[in-house]
Amino acid sequence: MQNFVYKNATEILFGAGQTANIAERIPADATVLMLYGGGSIKHNGAYDQALAALANHNVIEFGGVEANPTYETLMQALDVVRDEAVDFILAVGGGSVGDGAKFIAAAAQFNGEPWDILEQGAAVLSALPVGVVLTLPATGTESNGNSVITRVGTQQKLGFGSPHVRPQFAVLDPSFTLTLPVRQVGNGVVDAFVHVIEQYLTYPTNAPLQDRFAESILSTLIEEGPKALATPDDYAVRANIMWCACMALNGLIGQGVPQDWSTHMIGHEVTAVHGLDHAQTLAVVLPALLRVKIDQKRAKLEQLGQRVFGMPAPDAAATIDAIQAFFERMGVPTRLAGYDLDRSAVKPVIDSLEKNGMLALGEHGDITPAVATQILELSS
Ligand code: NZQ
Ligand code: ZN
Repeated sequence: MQNFVYKNATEILFGAGQTANIAERIPADATVLMLYGGGSIKHNGAYDQALAALANHNVIEFGGVEANPTYETLMQALDVVRDEAVDFILAVGGGSVGDGAKFIAAAAQFNGEPWDILEQGAAVLSALPVGVVLTLPATGTESNGNSVITRVGTQQKLGFGSPHVRPQFAVLDPSFTLTLPVRQVGNGVVDAFVHVIEQYLTYPTNAPLQDRFAESILSTLIEEGPKALATPDDYAVRANIMWCACMALNGLIGQGVPQDWSTHMIGHEVTAVHGLDHAQTLAVVLPALLRVKIDQKRAKLEQLGQRVFGMPAPDAAATIDAIQAFFERMGVPTRLAGYDLDRSAVKPVIDSLEKNGMLALGEHGDITPAVATQILELSS
């Protein structure tokens, strides 16, 4: 096992009604920026409950953060933070709102052009405190230090990470997720599934506990995901999915083991260039990537097939087929053609990958733009 230092300082408030408990976690004299998206929070109770909880705080609202949050919109929110001397940012919504809050929090205390945080990897030395009321289980942003932002002007989607933007608390109330459209239910399960895969499906390193953490999340997603589609009003199912998605990317399962993340890096470019949802890109890239990398990943694929998909004998190829079938079962198409894209869609994605310096991806650093081309062509 590799050495590691692990600390997750996010306090999780899990369950129905927990939003009522946020006020005591935010200083009484704080000016709070309540950040949200296109308005879904006004239909599931999250908006009303957050405002009720903060009745005695000074709250300023900023709505309109897009799915795949944009730098352009967030810079407007940053103006509000500066003009109103905001002390605390509360994100109420999905991963995009959470990521947007983190970027604003870092930008507010950054000396210089905030885009450098994303494009140059400039160090984030401090940030405003962030809290999250989550409405879409998928990204794990509620309990990690990551954020991914899109700049419309240059068609770039770039991420940064810092312990300073890890949320201080996160409310995980599954009842807020009951209003999710089918497409976002599928997206969330696929995203969480692929987060686990990126930290698990590399090569054996004698880390049996990490392996079993990962396998338990994958098994639970395979069991519970289809139930969320079949019985959408079932709170218990939503609760299980919400906890899975949080555990998938809160840092725990990836400690001490090699990680991949090439599916995400290629997928981010597909979103930047063609506008697919984040999880849709993962569903397209992962099966093809695994087929191209089957020899390097064979041992873990076989383990996954037997332990999670219940295969009687080791079979890496059949395991990839099973992953792809699961994504399709969750209603997320796994080929570019499913999004009205053909082979001509590949080159602009590769050009963007190269422009952003993503030249050596994967746990072995051997997924070059040429290999990424092969992967995307296989998925068309
Ligand atoms: O904007 P509103 O009106 O709120 O609607 C949203 C949005 O249209 C809607 N929605 C959210 N909760 C809902 C709801 N609709 C009905 N009922 C609810 N309870 O869902 C749509 C998608 O929301 P979004 O926040 O964009 O989705 P998600 O949570 O999947 O976040 C995706 C973003 O997170 C990034 C992705 O790249 C993408 O930009 N990621 C962040 C990561 C992280 N910080 O660790 C890791 C991930 O790999 C990922 O890259
Ligand atoms: Zn993801």
